[in-house]
Amino acid sequence: MGGGFAARLRAATRDAHERAERSPFVEALLGGDLGREAYAALLAQSHLFHSALEEAGEVWRGDPVVGRFVLDPLRRSPALEADLAWLLGPGWRGHLRPLDATSSYVERLRAVCPTDRAAFVAHHYTRYLGDLFGGQIIRHRLRDTYGLEVDGVRHCLFDGIGKPKPFRDRYRALLDETPWRPGERDALIAEADLAFRLNRAVFDDLAAVHC
Ligand code: HEM
Repeated sequence: MGGGFAARLRAATRDAHERAERSPFVEALLGGDLGREAYAALLAQSHLFHSALEEAGEVWRGDPVVGRFVLDPLRRSPALEADLAWLLGPGWRGHLRPLDATSSYVERLRAVCPTDRAAFVAHHYTRYLGDLFGGQIIRHRLRDTYGLEVDGVRHCLFDGIGKPKPFRDRYRALLDETPWRPGERDALIAEADLAFRLNRAVFDDLAAVHC
């Protein structure tokens, strides 16, 4: 990786990534210590914030600068809906009750993402590269611990994206090439740091209920 903006963003969020990755809820999930109910609760919260992020994506679709980040195969809501229906049955929408941290996260996404392109990309980067890499690790653990192969883990599968690493490299090139206005790069880094903290807070709320 070169020394461009994408490298700076990654370095600036490394500690926040580690804190999110090491949250007790994630560790318990990866350790196979949680039931399917807790896993379904995570997916329900994810559906709430992914829907808000994807609504903002519709605003930026076609934008000459950041429209290039809006890629349909990245959208997680359809697969999250399939997973929730499979795990919880036809009444799954009744489980879409936001925890406090999810409400704050959704509020932030709705406040900044539809109008601020750097903030949109900050949240886009945090969730989708996170889903792409963390998601693959989660998928392998869920296969080993709960026997989930495809049903229930469809949101971890990224058809149409190809292998995660080459995709990540193209994504980083896009971050580097985007003609950001003065101040936008710093604002994007600050917003990505916030995005990681908002994610960690959702894990903490989930841990309070399920761990
Ligand atoms: C289950 C826990 C997680 C694991 C095991 C995990 C693991 C990983 C791994 C292995 C990478 C690739 C590192 C590399 O080769 O460059 C990665 C990248 C990334 N992860 Fe996670 N992750 C987890 C949780 C998260 C969470 C909760 C988020 C944010 C919501 C997140 C956001 C990211 C981002 C944005 C990148 C891309 C970094 C870059 O290349 O710029 N991850 N993760």
